Order: sequence, then structure tokens, then C-alpha cells
Amino acid sequence: MGKKVKNNNIVLIGFMGSGKTSLGIRLSYKLQLSVEDTDKIIESREKKKISEIFAEKGESYFRKLETELLYEIRDKKCRKIYSLGGGTPVILQNQSLICQCGTVIYLSAKPETIYERLKHDTTRPLLQCDDPKAKIASLIETRDPIYRRCADYVIEVDGKDQNQILDEILNCLGEGT
Ligand code: S3P
Repeated sequence: MGKKVKNNNIVLIGFMGSGKTSLGIRLSYKLQLSVEDTDKIIESREKKKISEIFAEKGESYFRKLETELLYEIRDKKCRKIYSLGGGTPVILQNQSLICQCGTVIYLSAKPETIYERLKHDTTRPLLQCDDPKAKIASLIETRDPIYRRCADYVIEVDGKDQNQILDEILNCLGEGT
């Protein structure tokens, strides 16, 4: 993907619970840019929680909404920070779109880190299963190479606090102090 066709946004990708939303907010304060969370945009447009969309309309409907939203983000001219849903890069069509949306930062986390963070979470439909630990491990195994392919920068988040991760993101963006 040539740099010329890239939009000017900052795009955070990574597994559920990797910190995309919270780091997006911190980054937005730091860079004085607005931040958008694609899950939240979809929830507000559909007037339903993600878990309700999955239950009532199915995952493929949700994935279609994600792709439509990526086209919108790609075609908007203003600079923003976007936190994408953890599964967005999995759809082949989305991968080149994501690259075109802006500078892509992958927050990479180990399965153990994610499990500790999400073991009591009830909002992620894909993890409401008998063995969420195994599900997280297998999804990360499949997705990690995809995230890496889409990313301009990869940041390992395990064992780091949010300030440290924020500094690393800012350095990647050439905004470090
Ligand atoms: C999903 C991640 C979620 C949300 C949906 C599916 C996934 O977003 O889009 O539950 O497939 O990994 P977060 O990564 O913001 O939790």
C-alpha cells in the first residue's frame, strides 16, 4: 500500500481488550484530535448493543456494517483517531481499506493478558462460550499475522502501563517529546 493513498487518520487495531479504546482517548487528549470508536458508531446508528446486533442479525451483518464504515472513514477528509473493533481486519476486503484509512498501529497483547482483562466481560459475544481462554488463544493465533500485515507500527502492550504505551505510540507517530 503506497503512502500516497493513505489518509491522515490514526487507526488503532488489535484484539478485544488490547486497550484500543482507552489509548485512543488518551491519544486524543495528547494530540488534540477527536477520537471515534467504530463499535460505538455502529451501536449508536443501529440503536443496539453489539451483543444484540450479533444475536438478532448475526455476525455477518455486523461485519457488513464495519466494512461500510471503513469506506466512510477512508473517504472523510478530516484527521481523527479511530479505534477499530478487534475483528475488523479479519475480513479480507477490510485489510486494504484499513491501510488506506491512516497510520495503523497494532496493539499486540498475549492471550494471557487478554484473558485476565476480559474473563468477567459479558459484552463481547465471541467470548461468551464454554472455554473463553482457548477461544482467545485460537483467535489471536489466527489474527496476529493479519493485524501485523495491516499495521504500520506494532506495539507490544503486555506488562506496560498506559503512559508507557502512549509514549510508544507518540514516538511511532513522530510526536514524542
Ligand atoms: C470483536 C471485537 C469487538 C466487537 C465485536 C467483535 C471481534 O470490538 O467489534 O464484539 O471480533 O474481535 P473490541 O475489539 O473493541 O472489543
